[in-house]
Amino acid sequence: MCGIVGYIGNKKAYPVLIKGLSRLEYRGYDSAGVALLENGTDLNVYKRQGKVQDLVAFVEGKSTAGTLGIGHTRWATHGLPNDINAHPHASGDGRMVLVHNGIIENYDVLKKELIKRGHTFKSETDTEVLVHLIEEIKSKYKVDLVEALRMALNEVHGAYAIVIVSKDEPNKLIAAKKSSPLVVGLGDDEYYLASDATPIIEYTKNVVYLEDEQIAIIDRKDGLRIISIHNKEVSPEITELSMQLEELERGGYDHFMLKEIHEQPRAIHDSFRGRLNAKEGWITLGGLKQYEDQIANANRIIIIACGTSWHAGLVGEYYIEDLARIPVEVEYASEFRYRNPIIRKDDVVIAISQSGETADTLAALKMSKDMGATILGIVNVVGSSISRITHGGSYTHAGPEIGVASTKAFTTQVTLLAMLAMMIAKKRNTISPRRFQALLDEMEALPKKIEKLLLSADRIKEIATEYKDAHNALYLGRGSSFPIALEGALKLKEISYIHAEGYPAAEMKHGPIALIDENMPVFVIATKGPNYEKVVSNIQEVKARKGRIIAIVTEGDTAVKDVAEYVIEIPEADEILVPILATIPFQLISYYIAVMRGCNVDQPRNLAKSVTVE
Ligand code: G6P
Repeated sequence: MCGIVGYIGNKKAYPVLIKGLSRLEYRGYDSAGVALLENGTDLNVYKRQGKVQDLVAFVEGKSTAGTLGIGHTRWATHGLPNDINAHPHASGDGRMVLVHNGIIENYDVLKKELIKRGHTFKSETDTEVLVHLIEEIKSKYKVDLVEALRMALNEVHGAYAIVIVSKDEPNKLIAAKKSSPLVVGLGDDEYYLASDATPIIEYTKNVVYLEDEQIAIIDRKDGLRIISIHNKEVSPEITELSMQLEELERGGYDHFMLKEIHEQPRAIHDSFRGRLNAKEGWITLGGLKQYEDQIANANRIIIIACGTSWHAGLVGEYYIEDLARIPVEVEYASEFRYRNPIIRKDDVVIAISQSGETADTLAALKMSKDMGATILGIVNVVGSSISRITHGGSYTHAGPEIGVASTKAFTTQVTLLAMLAMMIAKKRNTISPRRFQALLDEMEALPKKIEKLLLSADRIKEIATEYKDAHNALYLGRGSSFPIALEGALKLKEISYIHAEGYPAAEMKHGPIALIDENMPVFVIATKGPNYEKVVSNIQEVKARKGRIIAIVTEGDTAVKDVAEYVIEIPEADEILVPILATIPFQLISYYIAVMRGCNVDQPRNLAKSVTVE
């Protein structure tokens, strides 16, 4: 987490940095700060607890001159989110400042040694230790900044993306990365640095993604040079961005989350566009083509992910086991990597990640790769770390997702998993031609069904009004709708701060039923399908305890209407696609409840969109 930016060129740096930080705020918003080098001599550092807008208010009236600068928006790891712990952090002599995303794991040992050598520290951060370490090496070995940085990076353990400005080398921006992402934007005689491409896109489409253990040296005169931390020259590989600027704007919606919910018909269409054709009866996932045999012959498939992406993985398990008959295990990346898992060469490990940067997912993948498995990715952000380390993969093509609570990224992940399951099932002959064709037809019809469902947004808003003051909520589902209950509960928790739990409907009897009383809203997915009768019985059990039932049902259903306080109808669809449709009312309910409770929907407290720390 944390977002970092840098600029060197002919423009005034401050507005570029502030705009860039606003775009990166999804990565953390505990504090924000900038450092500006004015006339090559004055290093002005401004930093403030709170959001980028708080920083802007603080800076008002102060000097913002300078065509070179760096900035940071923080998600606190070491030390409270206060002004002192905000980045940039300075060396002891104040001549050099640094911004950092990541964690220096051995900072404590390094700090103790530096204190022994006379260094004093102002903050509780690991970052301040790094800048002091560079300063120490620079003066001890009488080397220039790049060499001091290179030597320092060979001493630190952990993850970093850093950018440094120094009065001693006033025409340079120096950056480095390991595990945390960093992109260099190449303009005309100007350069941008950022944690992802969103702060860069409006200035240039040409970027270089730095690789782990690389140092970028950007000089006003000599331009960009890249070396490894082992001192090897690297020739920069320029990539052209395909992202559009408009995708990063709110486009008339009150919040990014609402915009992203409404983008789902388009996003889902983009996720299958060119990859399936119902008329011609085929499905193909280009980035996985080469691995089709490995997947089809896999002993088992292991899906690793975190958060909402883990829920998508759970839906994927139902799809792949049901259609393609390959055993699937779905793992929290953070648990998987630390429990000495059994990974074999004929295992296929699939990571699911919106950002493609989640530290635990990335590390679990690397581990699986080292143990000989084929590693694949279902990722949204093009060019992200996961997409680059995997053998193959498919982009979800949801477009940039800015709201911290994931919406369109989730439904496109599930869409892609459905396609993957169909593709393998076809290859393994575990699906009848009729069912295969029916699913292709259903898939193509999905965006229109979502459009229709979104027309009920106002009604869902009315329903939200009823439950906005709840203290708890229960979400129930069965089969592939069970993960949707988990996702519904997560959405409510993260943006409205109402405690919510997702449960398999039948499992409710083994505990959560004790919580049900006349104040408890119980959201149930009760769509037509093999589990329908059983779910209706579960609804009766809730009703008997006076629970308040809000049910998602198939269009035209009458049985549930009699027992539920509210029903929300979703268009009739194949069972495989119900999880996608049923997700949408839950997204809207959480959204409206959070708005009514006055919560910051796009930037919920304590959360960040991209979790690049373990
Ligand atoms: C954070 C986000 C979630 C996301 C999770 C995994 O917790 O707030 O929305 O689901 O990280 O992120 P990923 O980018 O790997 O999908």
